[in-house]
Amino acid sequence: NENLVVLGIETSCDDTAAAVVNSNGEILSQVISSQAELLARYGGVAPKMAEEAHALVIDQVVQEALDKANLTEKDLTAVAVTIGPGLSLCLRVGVQKARKVAGSHNLPLVGVHHMEAHTLVARLVERELQFPFMALLVSGGHNLLILARDLGHYIQLGTTVDDAIGEAYDKTAKWLGLDLRRSGGPAVEELAREGDAKSVKFKVPMKQHKDCNFSYAGLKTQVRLAIEAKRINAEISLASASDEERQARADIAASFQRVAVLHLEEKCERAIEWALNIEPSINHLVVSGGVASNKYVRARLDEVVKRKGLKLVCPPPSLCTDNGVMIAWTGIEHFRLGRFDPPPPANEPEDVV
Ligand code: KG4
Ligand code: ZN
Repeated sequence: NENLVVLGIETSCDDTAAAVVNSNGEILSQVISSQAELLARYGGVAPKMAEEAHALVIDQVVQEALDKANLTEKDLTAVAVTIGPGLSLCLRVGVQKARKVAGSHNLPLVGVHHMEAHTLVARLVERELQFPFMALLVSGGHNLLILARDLGHYIQLGTTVDDAIGEAYDKTAKWLGLDLRRSGGPAVEELAREGDAKSVKFKVPMKQHKDCNFSYAGLKTQVRLAIEAKRINAEISLASASDEERQARADIAASFQRVAVLHLEEKCERAIEWALNIEPSINHLVVSGGVASNKYVRARLDEVVKRKGLKLVCPPPSLCTDNGVMIAWTGIEHFRLGRFDPPPPANEPEDVV
């Protein structure tokens, strides 16, 4: 029952993140360096550019995580790092750094699946959360409904057939001319509060499909057409739009959000019914991933979960969006069960990874 202290490194997408967590579930430090501003300037993730941005800050981010925890590399029990899914050029920056730290101090390595980490961080937040439980993972690239039967044993109940909900939020933000220096989701959520959610009639996706899959490409198109029909010019920022134009944008934001989340509600409700047939002892639905930091999403799903007699577990926003804590914690969960790799060789050349 010794106390494990694990460094977690995450570089799968556009944030470079590191954190130190111990096996009591204490977060000793958490550091994130975001490329959001860079990406806004160039209009999206270009893998080569993202790789260079990670490489530029990775040493500093890891050092800062150790400093804030008042630790040095020698004090660690193991190093955990995201190995996928994600942009391979970006993942490699994190993996190389993890191997370097682990190799220099003879530390075991734990390779972590990014989506498993979004799921398991809920067990750090809510210590009562036991397997089996359900999870809805909603981010920029993923839209998953999972039945988590045990550590490392997951059944996928549903996924997206095209885009994820976060992608739909991001495009809606872009087409509405919102400030993209932070990600699109929060900007749409904020503007939606000023809008009438029933004013634009969007169709709920996949009504006719009796499964637990998602689709957001069609809703994206509906939003784009509505924006064109209202002659909204994304070149004009929200701040310089007229009152009337601001209201039109807010109405679209609110109407989009209502339908995007209705789609989540419907599929979650069905998935809970399916899952309870397989595992009647399920008590919780975890909602995690970037979109789970949205207050409207949380409130609506809380209603669904209550109706079904379950409890909602939703990590705080800083642990819903990509972070190093979830990687370190998932590393601890696997390490405890002996699921880790031996230390890599010291002074390994970087190009072998
Ligand atoms: O999990 P995450 O940080 O990265 C991925 O693994 O994709 O999720 C990022 C996504 C982006 O699409 C972002 O717009 C969305 O999560 N997001 C939100 C909110 N905060 C982040 N979407 C809606 N409302 C929010 N408050
Ligand atoms: Zn993520």
